[in-house]
Amino acid sequence: MTKPPTGNNTSGRGSRDLRVKVKTAKGRKLSSTLWLERQLNDPYVQRAKREGYRGRAAFKIMELDDRYGFLKPGARVVDLGCAPGGWCQVAVPRVNALGENPKKPQGRILGIDLQEVEPIAGVELHQLDFLAEGADDRVKDWLGGRADVVMSDMAAASSGHKGTDHLRIVALIEAALAFAYDVLEDGGTFVTKVLAGGAENHMQAELKKNFTKVANVKPPSSRQDSSEKFVVAMGYRGRATPPGDGREDGQPQGWRAGDGGAENGGAAG
Ligand SMILES: C[S@@+](CC[C@H](N)C(=O)[O-])C[C@H]1O[C@@H](n2cnc3c(N)ncnc32)[C@H](O)[C@@H]1O
Repeated sequence: MTKPPTGNNTSGRGSRDLRVKVKTAKGRKLSSTLWLERQLNDPYVQRAKREGYRGRAAFKIMELDDRYGFLKPGARVVDLGCAPGGWCQVAVPRVNALGENPKKPQGRILGIDLQEVEPIAGVELHQLDFLAEGADDRVKDWLGGRADVVMSDMAAASSGHKGTDHLRIVALIEAALAFAYDVLEDGGTFVTKVLAGGAENHMQAELKKNFTKVANVKPPSSRQDSSEKFVVAMGYRGRATPPGDGREDGQPQGWRAGDGGAENGGAAG
């Protein structure tokens, strides 16, 4: 098991700029060759390998947390769709899940996935379909209460049909939001991957009613050619919620503005 670093430098750059060119090989499709070439030349893939993270996705949550600071020592975190575990690895030192800093409160991390996940020190892993009946109650039982953060990087298995895939991921995100409403503590944070494309507009309005601050962002490590972006909804108003007052949120350097609803100052790309 590799122990990830706690550093805050989230840039994937800095290594020598030597581009690897992959030759087409017999039996390998062009799409596979291009994928391999992109992986080999991606500074975040290289950095994940160097620093012991299980994937480049780790840098997305790192960048989101560097900016919004929701992974605080003592926080109870539920990571939905956590495999192979990069987001959990990032969360461990930040919430002090191993109690390594005795002066700070010790957090807890529950990682949930359909797939089995290799153990990660400081993370309680559960192989579970979060859509299953009673999954939210089981999570609350395991936590012994509610969570301060529900974060989701979930993706539905690809059907090969773009429109179907988009609807599937929107359904997954809406289910994750319903899960968060049930599991989150008042004041809690919901972080989710979404796809730019319009079908999530209804969710944006909902989020604004239920959280005091909603940001739509595309962190630098999210590939520019991908339609994914992230929503960070902070300050859960709880189960009885007054009308929303979603706030604008400026984009610092390195963060691209998105497709976004004008109402959220948000972002896509
Ligand atoms: C992109 S991966 C997550 C990567 C992760 N954030 C990391 O840093 O390693 C998406 C995961 O969502 C999981 N997933 C999709 N639907 C799920 C469901 N209904 N319940 C639990 N996990 C689900 C998949 O099994 C997959 O492992």
